[in-house]
Amino acid sequence: MKEKLEQIKIAALREIESAVSTAQLNDIRVKYLGKSGEISLIMRDMANVPKEDRPAMGKLVNELRAAVEGALTEKTERLAFAEKQARLKEETLDITLPSGERGLGSLHPLTLVRRELIDIFSVMGFKVAEGPEIESDLYNFQLLNIPKDHPSRDMQDTFYVNENFVLRTQTSAMQARIMTTTQPPIRVVIPGKVYRSDDDASHSPIFNQFEGLAVDKHITMGDLQGCLTTFAKKIFSADTEVRLRPSYFPFTEPSVEVDVTCSMCHGEGCRVCKGTGWVEILGAGIVNPAVLDMCGIDSKTYSGFAFGFGIDRIAMIKYGIPNIKLLYENDMRFLAQFN
Ligand code: DAH
Repeated sequence: MKEKLEQIKIAALREIESAVSTAQLNDIRVKYLGKSGEISLIMRDMANVPKEDRPAMGKLVNELRAAVEGALTEKTERLAFAEKQARLKEETLDITLPSGERGLGSLHPLTLVRRELIDIFSVMGFKVAEGPEIESDLYNFQLLNIPKDHPSRDMQDTFYVNENFVLRTQTSAMQARIMTTTQPPIRVVIPGKVYRSDDDASHSPIFNQFEGLAVDKHITMGDLQGCLTTFAKKIFSADTEVRLRPSYFPFTEPSVEVDVTCSMCHGEGCRVCKGTGWVEILGAGIVNPAVLDMCGIDSKTYSGFAFGFGIDRIAMIKYGIPNIKLLYENDMRFLAQFN
């Protein structure tokens, strides 16, 4: 028995000494000290040892156990330390290496166009105003000469919040807000989001409009035409021509629709302008005297012009963007082209 203990000790210590990983040490621990390990079995065998020899044998077994455990612990610590060092070395980051390139961000095309528009109209003396997107029926419709239940409401598919409030369908609502609180001279442009229940390649339920209003003494259609011609040449190109066609809006009288020569083909006729050489860009007109009076501005003394267009549409024409959805999906492949 004594000899056997000595053999086990020599074998165990040799195995421990030559182990090269903590995993291996774990196996050795199980082999000798585990439930059915060699040393545990000997402990169990103790019953067969003559009674008088038991204390001495017990002591020897305990010593063996302690020796093996001690060796295991010591070697485990050494190997764990070495393993940790190796891992640290392997996982070291060289923070002095140059990093991967991070592209610069860019402005959204709608932001680019809005800023350019504001610049163009600022030079002509227009101030910038903004207003609420949840708008009362009064400003969005009634003060613009669109009474409740009037057929002209059908020109716009409106999201109603309740009976008296809408998601504004047009930045024209701000005309009424400004005219009810300000006396002429007025020169203001209003960029802003508007909403309509409309959805296809050229319509989005949310889009951006740009409104203009000028009220003063002796304002005429000629002023409107000059202002819009300047705007069109600046935002598209110097050779852009403008044409006014008679139209109808409840808040302007007379009303016009404004076309510009196609910026793709410069009037030659192409896919974008459907072969006509012209693209429609906005609605405008002389502020209806009824609107001036409703808003508290004397129509006998003052007159005005107004216009409104989609910033989205201008961006689509200017950059040749085929689908309005591209402006709202935030696809990086699209946005990165405006760097
Ligand atoms: N608000 C009109 C629309 O959304 C556009 C418009 C037409 C605005 C004529 C005006 C205007 O200021 O005078 O369709």
